[in-house]
Amino acid sequence: MKVCVVGTGYVGLTTGVSLAFLGHEVTCVDLDQAKVDMLTAGRCPIYEPGMEELLAEAAPNLTFTTSYADAVPGADVVFVAVQTPSADDGSPDLRYLRSAAESVAQALNNDFTVVVNKSTVPIGSGNWVDAILRDSFEQRADRPAGVEFAVASNPEFLREGNAIADTLYPDRIVIGSDNPRSLEVLNRLYRPIINQTFTPPAFLTRPEDVNAVPLVSTDLASAELIKYAANAFLALKISYANEIGQLAAKVGADITEVARGMGLDQRIGSRFLQPGVGWGGSCFGKDTKALIATAGEYNLEMPIVKAARDVNQRQRAIAVERLQDELRILKGRKIGLLGLAFKPNTDDLRDAPALDIANSLIARGARVKLHDPVASERFRTEQPELAAYLTSTIDELFADCDAVVLVTEWAQYLELDWSKFVGLMRTPIVLDGRHVLDADRMRRLGYRYLAVAG
Ligand code: UGA
Repeated sequence: MKVCVVGTGYVGLTTGVSLAFLGHEVTCVDLDQAKVDMLTAGRCPIYEPGMEELLAEAAPNLTFTTSYADAVPGADVVFVAVQTPSADDGSPDLRYLRSAAESVAQALNNDFTVVVNKSTVPIGSGNWVDAILRDSFEQRADRPAGVEFAVASNPEFLREGNAIADTLYPDRIVIGSDNPRSLEVLNRLYRPIINQTFTPPAFLTRPEDVNAVPLVSTDLASAELIKYAANAFLALKISYANEIGQLAAKVGADITEVARGMGLDQRIGSRFLQPGVGWGGSCFGKDTKALIATAGEYNLEMPIVKAARDVNQRQRAIAVERLQDELRILKGRKIGLLGLAFKPNTDDLRDAPALDIANSLIARGARVKLHDPVASERFRTEQPELAAYLTSTIDELFADCDAVVLVTEWAQYLELDWSKFVGLMRTPIVLDGRHVLDADRMRRLGYRYLAVAG
C-alpha cells in the first residue's frame, strides 16, 4: 500500500520506517530540510536503538521529502504525527496539527484516503481534523473530482528506547473511525503485524510468545480515549508504587520486595511498579495534564490522575530531602548526578527528573556535577545554563563528591566497578534514585547506601 507520514519525530519516523520495512511504499514529509537530508543519507536524527539498521533495511521502500505534493497524492493512508506540545493551561497546542491537516488537504487526490491522527490529541480532535480537512479541501481552486477521505485514530503505544520492538511486536493495535472503509484499509495495512507474517529484522528477533496481535477496531472517540486512559494508568501505577514506597520506608519494609510481591499477582502485573524518582518524558506528564484539562471541559474532576501527578512531583523533592537529611547542610556540597535522560536508552531530556533535582540542589546552594553516557550532547544545547556542570568521565563525576545520585538506570552505571569510586569521594554516599543497586553489596564496598524510599 502507499503510505505518507507527516512529521519525522519519534512516532512518525518509527511508523514510517516500520511500515516501509513491512513492504509498504512510504514517503515521509518533514518541513525541516536538514532532517530530511540526514534521513535520506541513512542517518537517524534521534537516538533510538536499531533505528539506523531498520532504516537501512527499509531504504528501498522509503523516501523523505519536504514537499506535501510529493508525498500525499496517491497515498492510501496519510499518518499525521506532528508534535503537540503542552500549552500553558495543560491542553495540547494543536497549531502544528492544524497546519499539517491544511497542507494534507491541499494535496489529496486519491479516490479514497484515510487520514490518521497519530499524534496524541485530545478526545474530539478527530472530528476537529476532519472539519479542517473538509474546509481546506473545499477551498481548493484545483479541487479534483471523485476524491474521498476520512479521519481515523491509531494511537501509538511505543516507548522511547523500545520503539521498534513496540511497533513490530505490540501488545495490541488500536484503530478507531466512524467510517467503516477506513477501518478496513487500516486493517489491511497492519495485516503483517497482526498476523506476524513478516520476517523479523536481523537485530530484533520475534519474542517467542508473539504469534498474533489483537486488533481493537472501534469508534473514533474510544480510540482517542484508550491512549490517554492507558498512559494515565501506567503513570498512576508508578505513582502508586512510589506512594507505597514512602510508607514502606516508615514501617521498615523493602519496597522492591513489596513491588515484586504485588506484581506477581497477574491481575496487577509486575511492570511499571519500579519505585524511585518517578516518571518523566514527553508523554505521562503531558497526557495526564491533557486528560485533566479535557475532563475539566465537562466539569469533571479527575482526583486519581491529579494525585498521581502530585505524588510524582513529590518524589523528585524527596530525593533532595534525603540528601539534606543525610548531609544536614547542602550549601557548598558537591553532588554528582548519574544520568540525565528521563530514562535509559534515549537522549530525551523532556521533563527529566534529573533537571528538577539539579535545579533544586543548585537553588539550595549545592554544587552539582552531571553525567550521561548518551544525552550529554543534547543537554549541552537544550540546557545551556547547566552545561558547565557536565563531566566527561565517571571518575570526574565521583571525584570529591559528598554524594552521588543514580537518577537514570543506564546499563553502563549498573555494570560499573563501584569499588573503584568509593575512594574518590569526600563522603561515599550513594542515593539510589531507581532502587536498582544491590544495597548490601554497596554497603560492603564502603558506601553509605540510601534509596528514595527506604
Ligand atoms: C510511554 C508509554 O509507556 C508508551 O506506551 C506510550 O506510547 C508513550 O508513553 C507515548 O505516549 O508516546 P515513554 O514515555 O517513552 O512511553 O517511556 P516509559 O518507558 O513508559 O517510561 C516513562 C517514565 O516512567 C520514565 O521516566 C521511566 O523512568 C518511568 N518509570 C517507568 C518508572 O519510574 N517506573 C517504572 O516502573 C516504569
